[in-house]
Amino acid sequence: MKLLYGALLIAQAAAAASSHGTFASPGNDVRLKFRYWLPDASVDTDTVVKDIEEAGAIGAGGVELLGLYNYGGSLAPQPDGADWATYGFGTPAFNTLFKASLQSARNTGMVFDFALGPSQGQGVPAKTTDEGLHWDLAPFNVSVPSNGTYNGQIPGWETGELVSLVSARVVNTSTIVNPASSLFSTPANNATRLVLATESLVDHTDVISADGMVSLSFNVSEHYSYRLFAYYQYQDLVKNLDIYENTTGSIFDNGSYTVDHFSARGAQTTIDFWENYILNDTDIKALLQEVGRYGWEDSIEIKSNISWSPSIPDIFEQINGYQLRKFLPLMMYGNNNPGVQPSYPGTLECVLDSEGQGQGYVNDFRAALEKGYQNYLDTLSAWLEGLGLGYSAQVSYNLPLNMEVSINHVVAPECESLAFNNNIDGYRQFSGVANVAQKNVVSNEMGANLEKAFALPLSELLGQINTAFAGGVNQIVLHGQSYTGNYHETTWPGYTSFFMLFAESYYNKQPAWGHGLSDAIDYVSRNQYILQAGQPRTDIALYNGVSMTDPQLETLYPTDDLTKAGYTYTYLSPANFNISQASVSDGLLAPESPAYRAIIVTSDQNVTWAGVMQLQQHANAGLPVIFSGGFPGYYPNGESTDKAAVYAALRMLGGSQNVYATGSGQTASKLQQLNLTPRVAVHTNGTWYPVLRTDNSTDYLFILSRDSDSRGYLTVSSTKTPYLLDSWTGKRRPLLHYQRRGNTTEIPLHLAANQTVAFAFSNELWSEIETPYLHALRVPSNVLGYNYSTSGGLLLHRSTDPCDDCIFQLSNGTSYDLSLNSTSLTSHLRNWTLIAEHWEAPNNISDAAIQAVKRNTTHHLDTLVSWLDIPGLQNASGLGYYSSSFSWPPSPAYIVDGAYLTFPKIAQGIKVTVNGHDVGPLDFTNPRVDIGPYLTSGANEVTAIVPTLMWNYVRSIYDEIEISGIAPLLSDPLPDRVDNGLIGEVKIIPYVTTRYMI
Ligand SMILES: *[C@@H]1O[C@H](CO)[C@@H](O)[C@H](O)[C@H]1NC(C)=O
Repeated sequence: MKLLYGALLIAQAAAAASSHGTFASPGNDVRLKFRYWLPDASVDTDTVVKDIEEAGAIGAGGVELLGLYNYGGSLAPQPDGADWATYGFGTPAFNTLFKASLQSARNTGMVFDFALGPSQGQGVPAKTTDEGLHWDLAPFNVSVPSNGTYNGQIPGWETGELVSLVSARVVNTSTIVNPASSLFSTPANNATRLVLATESLVDHTDVISADGMVSLSFNVSEHYSYRLFAYYQYQDLVKNLDIYENTTGSIFDNGSYTVDHFSARGAQTTIDFWENYILNDTDIKALLQEVGRYGWEDSIEIKSNISWSPSIPDIFEQINGYQLRKFLPLMMYGNNNPGVQPSYPGTLECVLDSEGQGQGYVNDFRAALEKGYQNYLDTLSAWLEGLGLGYSAQVSYNLPLNMEVSINHVVAPECESLAFNNNIDGYRQFSGVANVAQKNVVSNEMGANLEKAFALPLSELLGQINTAFAGGVNQIVLHGQSYTGNYHETTWPGYTSFFMLFAESYYNKQPAWGHGLSDAIDYVSRNQYILQAGQPRTDIALYNGVSMTDPQLETLYPTDDLTKAGYTYTYLSPANFNISQASVSDGLLAPESPAYRAIIVTSDQNVTWAGVMQLQQHANAGLPVIFSGGFPGYYPNGESTDKAAVYAALRMLGGSQNVYATGSGQTASKLQQLNLTPRVAVHTNGTWYPVLRTDNSTDYLFILSRDSDSRGYLTVSSTKTPYLLDSWTGKRRPLLHYQRRGNTTEIPLHLAANQTVAFAFSNELWSEIETPYLHALRVPSNVLGYNYSTSGGLLLHRSTDPCDDCIFQLSNGTSYDLSLNSTSLTSHLRNWTLIAEHWEAPNNISDAAIQAVKRNTTHHLDTLVSWLDIPGLQNASGLGYYSSSFSWPPSPAYIVDGAYLTFPKIAQGIKVTVNGHDVGPLDFTNPRVDIGPYLTSGANEVTAIVPTLMWNYVRSIYDEIEISGIAPLLSDPLPDRVDNGLIGEVKIIPYVTTRYMI
């Protein structure tokens, strides 16, 4: 039995490994995906199929199908000619398209994800009487007359079902300001803040007559007044596809209703719809089982007065041991959707006059919401798993909840570059619990840059992707791929999501689509192969016990001491300690993944009694616990009666074994003092972010150099044989230059700004076939590169440039002087011919299905400058066909064996040939390639095809563009034009080859 189980596990592991493919050629399961926007289900099926196939052809592993419907109709109503009732989500027309999409994924071997509903996927078509639809809690209040008698109907009567009527004595009234939001263009506005006497809260819910009348009297005085608060739950029938029609005579006439996200009942409404209207087609069900991966939901964008579900009062009482009703006045401010309603937290904020102002009750309310939300997630997860699929969702980070407690409730948790502002620390807050719960995929909706439609360079996108990788993300879903065909009231370049408010439309109308995007996709996918291998190894856990996640995902650990030293860290909420994998053994927290070596609690954290007890247990079990900057504060629950006990427990913990204190920003030095060195120590004049994964016997290391060109070295805690993995070409080579020191490997590095490098450390993979016996301890600066093969040995390429220290030393101690008696033969390519292929709108701009109308102009360039500086190209978009030539060899007097060709940094892609030979993909951040094999004596021709961004051209026809019935929504003035083309110097760097048998 046990043996069989073992064999099964091995078989499962093998299946997982094979679906990952290889580093050189990652499987579709680990490749980048596109979010694919369907305008509505009336669009041409063949075009959708062709779009999906084209995505696969340029290297995408799959698509995430999403019926956008003008963002559910919220940015613009359906255009003339559209019929969103007939072509709505889950209609027969939709299912036909859905099935065809699934078939095209199957035919191309791609994987398939799908939104669970239209727009953000937060609801489905339903009857208005469905109890699973979204609930709101409406607050009302009225002042009690100054004679102290309230006789009459309670405020808001008949708004919905009364949840509670509460009275309170008001001890102070002031005006506060709700902030403006630039993202949502919402203005600042005033609200009122009431301080209520703590002991004065009284629940009168049970004394209200059937017609809503009460008779209440209060002991008033001239010093204080009383107020009545009434709360009603009701279904606001808010929609994620906003139409009212009478076309079909079915539920589709009303579009799609947002469901309750704080109950299993809400999830059931979604499930019932799928079962009754989509999965009743057995072909679809079978196809989903074959190629489907994730049912998906976007970030929660539901607006309300107060986040609510009828299930909340019971959950609240169950987990907190007292009733919620009396405390609802404390919940009516900032508990709706802080992420999308930043300027509208409420018009009235109530706090208590006791210490802590009643925050303990708010914390308990949020804990109840979290539990309700987890019921929602668990129900959808279980249903999808029953179908052989998984649930991927952007977990709660807009809501007034701590996302970290719920991330482990979905198979593939997803974050996003937009809401997380590309902040590595924000990503670390997301990935910690995912790693502990051993979620193999941490997904990211990537590249929805505001006001960057058609103007987001791939180089910038890759910088964002690498930043996400550095924070623990390992799956990119690009935002997004656009439908290429015609649509109602839509001109060229076609249906553009969010009316151009956000980047980007990836499709064949983008010049980069066929000329560079596939290189970027392969590069990202190979990095995902590495970052999805095995399990992560993270040095440090940071304690993060917040009441709600900051919607801006601001940095929590403010100093750079950990990063500077190479310590990797992620955040854990105290609730995450209850996950079964979060045990301590051998001094490691969550020893299988990510095997934290210490936990740090900063002084700006707040802790509960339970939290301190967990830390105490961890310390007792052998995990180092470090207080940074002093003891943390107190995290209140309910009446906050245990404050003194929490502080006493903290003092006790502070005196325990394995517990240490250090100053703020001094954690790294404390860790070093405790001999807890980073697994990958970083020594650099820049900022390097290591990500380490362990897969059986192989360790994978990914390094991002952010922001600047930088030098230095890594000290890796491994003595396995290091290999270089080139994510651009897929090639793997034994690493030439490193030092062994004790049980570490020291690797010198020079990285360009935003460059990444990847290594594998292994004694088992590849060891016999391609590993030399020796490596180099010293490599002079004039060595440009090398090739190695067991039969051919090491071929070193050294330039004719002078070197300072010219000694090449092997690990057996042998040294060679590599200085050359030559002047530098490096040259710059000049006299370029540029044929600009202009990609433009058709004469009939209403024909959006045209890729582009193309025409050429020819330009002679002595030096390579931006298209903004070339007459006739300022407003151009398309392809630049650059060509130039040089003669070879460079000097009759000196024999050279080959040359490197280098390009300036690449913004949007490049395809290079030398004498007609494709030189392969180039690293955008440091484009250089050995062209030795392609050189001939005499004239040698270099060509480069360089795609542009579309923006400058799109900007020039902006006034003519119509999308689904309206003009695009970019703000006035339009964003500036952008640079295009090759800008800078192209160099030929000749080299001399020397062979060493090592
Ligand atoms: C108290 O004041 C209110 C409002 O002025 C009035 O309607 C009510 O009759 C008064 N009640 C008593 C008992 O004086």
